[in-house]
Amino acid sequence: MKVEKVQEISSNILDTVSSFFVGNRLMLRKLLAAGLANGHILFEDYPGLGKTLLAKTFARVTGCGWKRIQFTPDLMPADILGTRVWRMRESKFVLERGPVFTNILLADEINRSPPKTQSALLEAMEERQVTIEGETHKLSAPFFTIATQNPIELEGTYPLPEAQMDRFLLKLSMGYVDTHEEESLILKRRIAWRKDDPMDMIESVTDQETFVEMQRFIEEEMYVDEQIIDYITEIVRLTREHPVVEVGASPRGGLALMKAARAHAAVSGREFVTPDDVKMFVVDALGHRMIMKMEYAIEGTFTADAILADILGKVEVPKQFMRR
Ligand SMILES: Nc1ncnc2c1ncn2[C@@H]1O[C@H](COP(=O)(O)OP(=O)(O)OP(=O)(O)O)[C@@H](O)[C@H]1O
Ligand SMILES: [Mg+2]
Repeated sequence: MKVEKVQEISSNILDTVSSFFVGNRLMLRKLLAAGLANGHILFEDYPGLGKTLLAKTFARVTGCGWKRIQFTPDLMPADILGTRVWRMRESKFVLERGPVFTNILLADEINRSPPKTQSALLEAMEERQVTIEGETHKLSAPFFTIATQNPIELEGTYPLPEAQMDRFLLKLSMGYVDTHEEESLILKRRIAWRKDDPMDMIESVTDQETFVEMQRFIEEEMYVDEQIIDYITEIVRLTREHPVVEVGASPRGGLALMKAARAHAAVSGREFVTPDDVKMFVVDALGHRMIMKMEYAIEGTFTADAILADILGKVEVPKQFMRR
C-alpha cells in the first residue's frame, strides 16, 4: 500500500457516500479518518438528520461487515455480546454470537439503554474482545463503533457518563444541511430511490482486507514530526490549566488527536502530519473529554468549543516541522 492508494480509495469512499447522504464533506472526511484510525465515533444530533442513513451507507461503502443494534430501555448485555445456549441435538453448549461480532457496529440511540447495557458495549470497544461466561473472544479487524445519540434534553434517555465518553475517538455532529439546494436534494434523491432505505442500491468501493491494509499503512508508515507532537502536547496540557475547566482532556485525548490527524493526512495523500490536520480535530477529539467548573457549566457561557479556540490562539503553530 502507498499513500496515493490510500488517498484514491478514500476519495472513492467519500464520493460514493456523498451520492446517497447529503451533507458536509468535511464531516465525512472526519468520519473516514476516525474509521481508518480504528476509532469509535459518537454522533450527537437531533432526530431525523440522517445519522442512521450515514452510518449504514458508510459501512456498506467500505465493504466491511456491519451490524446494527437499536438501543432500547429493555436491551440486555447479552443482546449485544451473545450468549451460550444448550444445543439439544449436539448435547453441548454453543456460543451464539451477538451483533458485536462484526467490523462496523452501528449502535443507534445508545443513550436509550440503561448504564449496565451501555457498559457492556463500552468494554468491548475499549478491549476489542468480549468475555462471555468466562470465555474470552477477540473481535475482528477492523472493529469500530459508530454510535448515535439524541441530545440529552430529550426524555427517557440515560446520558453516557463522562468516563465512557472518553472511549470515543471523536464526537461529531452533522447538524442541519446548510442550503436550500441541499435540503431539496434530499427530497429529489428520495424520489429517485423510490423507497426510504436505499441500502440495496449501494455498492462497496473496497473490501475489508483493503480497509485493514489502509489502517496498517496509517499505523506503520506515517511520519509525525517532533514539533507536531509538541504542538499536540501543548494543546492537551493547556486544557488542564484553563481556569474555567474542572477536568481537562485525558492522555487518551491527546492520542485521539494524534491518531485522527495522522489518518486525515493519509486521506489527503500526505505521509506527514501538518498543524492543520491537528487543528481540524481539536474540538472533535478533545471537547467531549472536558468538564467545565460547575459555576460556568450552569451559565453556559464557556463551551468546550470556545475554550479550545482560546487555547489554539495561545499555542504557537509549528513552522519548521519536517515533511520527511
Ligand atoms: N442528509 C441527508 N441526506 C439524505 N437523506 C437524508 C438526510 N437526512 C435525512 N435524510 C432522510 O431522512 C430520513 C431520516 O433519516 P435517519 O433515519 O437517518 O435520521 P436519524 O438522524 O437517524 O434520526 P433518529 O435520530 O430519529 O434515529 C431518512 O429517510 C433519510 O434518508
Ligand atoms: Mg436513527
